Amino acid sequence: MVVSEFIPSTNLNLPNNGKIAWKSPSNIALVKYWGKKENQIPANPSISFTLDACATRTNLTFEKLSKPSQNFSFNLLFEGEPKPDFKPKIETFFRRIEPYLPFLKDYHFTIETTNSFPHSSGIASSASGMAALSLCLLDIERSSKSQMTVDFFNKKASFLARLGSGSACRSISGSLIQWGKNDHIQNSSDLFGVKYPYKMAPVFENYHDTILLVHKGQKTVSSTVGHGLMKGHPFAEKRFEQAHQNLNKLQTIFAEGNLDEFIEIVESEALTLHAMMMTSIPYFLLMKPETLAIIEKIWNFRKKTGLHACFTLDAGANVHLLYPEAEKTETIQFVKDELVVHCENGHYICDRVGNGSKKLISL
Ligand code: DP6
Repeated sequence: MVVSEFIPSTNLNLPNNGKIAWKSPSNIALVKYWGKKENQIPANPSISFTLDACATRTNLTFEKLSKPSQNFSFNLLFEGEPKPDFKPKIETFFRRIEPYLPFLKDYHFTIETTNSFPHSSGIASSASGMAALSLCLLDIERSSKSQMTVDFFNKKASFLARLGSGSACRSISGSLIQWGKNDHIQNSSDLFGVKYPYKMAPVFENYHDTILLVHKGQKTVSSTVGHGLMKGHPFAEKRFEQAHQNLNKLQTIFAEGNLDEFIEIVESEALTLHAMMMTSIPYFLLMKPETLAIIEKIWNFRKKTGLHACFTLDAGANVHLLYPEAEKTETIQFVKDELVVHCENGHYICDRVGNGSKKLISL
């Protein structure tokens, strides 16, 4: 598909007002997106498990203005309170998506958003938040076009979400989503995420992700700045190549359910992501001593038990502990016995692979 296919016709017959709500989950990347080109085009492809429990719920109320406004007209409530700090991000998002939703200046919007995970958990809500908002806005366009297919709706929602935050494009559907052009994955695109189209062994269908909340504060360097530092990074080209190779290796691993090889790729991806941060100029560190302590304990646990718990990291200090359903009891016991001490206030979140966004209120 090409970008112009997402520009709607000008004769949309849209409602004067209404309310829509969507819930979108967070996701956890196995092969990491790190580095981007113009217009939120990823420098390398990525793949993620869509999560289930960590989600954003967005209610969108809209009312037609008597005449189109000069600027975007919206109020934003986060957990019931006005949130002026979030407004610039939404304004940038609206500016980027306006060519594809040309009616945005015709309305006043009230965006009410809440997260299922604690506000200051260090879990980024941009992926789930931008996905839920994109779905709500696109539903306004869909209300005038009954012939919009589910496939097109999902692709366009992912395309819009990407313009808010890259990883958000992987939060529309479940359960394994690939984003970014890769020659070995049919229909893969830099413009939107697609469901992984090949065989996935049953072991991956209900994988668990227990998120160990090591540091709940604000990150010192945002992902957007981190992506920017991949421009001119001495290891960038090799890293981008490696992401393609890891994605290709995962095809056989997903099909065969080879957990040892899965672990090797997933942990290597996490450490490579952080190695890119540490070798940027300026360099920075997002891991904390507790992050490393947890990683070492996971390695020891695996050695001692022969089980398959492994870790991945986002752009932050929190650790995502991934493990199969069949090893749930022993792994959760390990979390309680050995890892909780490294979590801020002993907090962790039990999540698992999920099926994607859900509509809560229809127009
Ligand atoms: C480390 O999607 O947060 O989580 O596109 O600038 O909003 P922006 O960045 P963002 O980057 C996420 C990076 C990552 C890896 C990943 O999810 O693939």
